Amino acid sequence: MPSVVSRNSISIVALAFVLFQGAAPSARLSAAEDDPSASYRRMVLMKGAWLFDRNCAFCHEKDGRGAVGPNLTDWYFLHGPTKDDLHRVVQEGVPEKGMPTWKTILKPTDLRLIEHYVWSLRGKEIKGKAPEGEKHEPEEEENPSVASQ
Ligand code: HEC
Repeated sequence: MPSVVSRNSISIVALAFVLFQGAAPSARLSAAEDDPSASYRRMVLMKGAWLFDRNCAFCHEKDGRGAVGPNLTDWYFLHGPTKDDLHRVVQEGVPEKGMPTWKTILKPTDLRLIEHYVWSLRGKEIKGKAPEGEKHEPEEEENPSVASQ
């Protein structure tokens, strides 16, 4: 009975299709658990930390606790708490206070990596140089110690 055989083979194909569809989402889920953007972020921060160590640690210490330059791990800011403020002060520096004008020294891509690293230091509250400037009350999503949990 050829018609039955062909109906069976159609349903086998259909079953295989359903199983395959069923498998696909779970494959996607486990890829999401792996979260490629998280490992990308880790890579950016590692490169940023490396560049910070070579260019900024001299005045801010390796972990950002501050020395000649301010502590970058607290919620106090001399030049403002936003990403734009950070970008501006790193680019332009504060030459009269000894903070170099980094846009004339480092490549824009390297400065971006450093800025990501400095941003990640906020709120680590590493004991070091006493707070300087104005206190900023962080939003919950701004606080890395909360966001990373
Ligand atoms: C030669 C010393 C020196 C070096 C090197 C240096 N800084 Fe600074 N930095 C300072 C000083 C001093 C200040 C404070 C300026 C002021 O009093 O207005 C400062 C301020 C800052 C601020 C502002 C902090 C705030 O409270 O608003 C940031 C951010 C910063 N530096 C990041 C960096 C980064 C990133 C690098 C490396 C690319 C770097 N600094 C390298 C001396 C330095």
